[in-house]
Amino acid sequence: MKSIETLPQVTASHLVKSVDLNHHGTLYAGRMAEWVVETGFMTARSALKCSPSNLVCVRLHGMSFRKSVQCGETLVLKGQVAHVGRSSLSVRVVANLIDADDATPYPTEGYLTFVYVVGGRAAPHGIDVVPPESPEARRWWDHIVNERQR
Ligand SMILES: CC(C)(COP(=O)(O)OP(=O)(O)OC[C@H]1O[C@@H](n2cnc3c(N)ncnc32)[C@H](O)[C@@H]1OP(=O)(O)O)[C@@H](O)C(=O)NCCC(=O)NCCS
Repeated sequence: MKSIETLPQVTASHLVKSVDLNHHGTLYAGRMAEWVVETGFMTARSALKCSPSNLVCVRLHGMSFRKSVQCGETLVLKGQVAHVGRSSLSVRVVANLIDADDATPYPTEGYLTFVYVVGGRAAPHGIDVVPPESPEARRWWDHIVNERQR
C-alpha cells in the first residue's frame, strides 16, 4: 500500500484575460470551475497513469470562490489526491495568485471525484493507499467520505 502523499501533484497556471471575465469585470466562475476540473482531471490521470478514455468525472463538490480575481492576474492551480477508493479517486484543487504570500487565503478551493471506467463501467483502478496521517490531509479525506454519504 502507498502513502497518499506520495501520489503525484499537478500544477497548472492561467493568465486571466478579458475573455475569462464575467459581467462584473472579474474572473467568471464558470471559467474558474473549468480550470479546477482540468487540474483535477490531470491530477487523477497522473496518479492512475491511465488513458484519458478510462477516466470520467462524477462529482464536483465543495467548490468555493472566496475572492474575486482581476484581469491580468496569473492563477496557479494545484491538484492533490485527497481520497482513493476502489474505482474512484478524489482530488483537492486550490487556486492562488502567483504572487500571493503564504498568509493570503487562496481565492478558490474545490474537490472533484473521478471514476476509472472500462467499457463505460466503473472498474477497480488498482491503487491502494493507507488513509493519511497528517491532520490536514485527514481532514480532506474525511470531507470526501462525509460528502459521499449525502
Ligand atoms: C462513472 C459511472 C460509469 C459510474 O457508474 P456506476 O457503475 O453506477 O458507479 P458505482 O455506483 O459503481 O460507483 C463507482 C465509484 O464511484 C463512486 N461514485 C459514484 N457516484 C459518485 C458521486 N456522485 N460522488 C462521489 N462518488 C461517486 C462510488 O462511490 C464508487 O466508488 P469506489 O469504487 O471507489 O467505492 C457513471 O456514474 C457515469 O457514467 N457517469 C457519467 C460520467 C460523465 O459523463 N462525466 C462527465 C460529466 S459532464
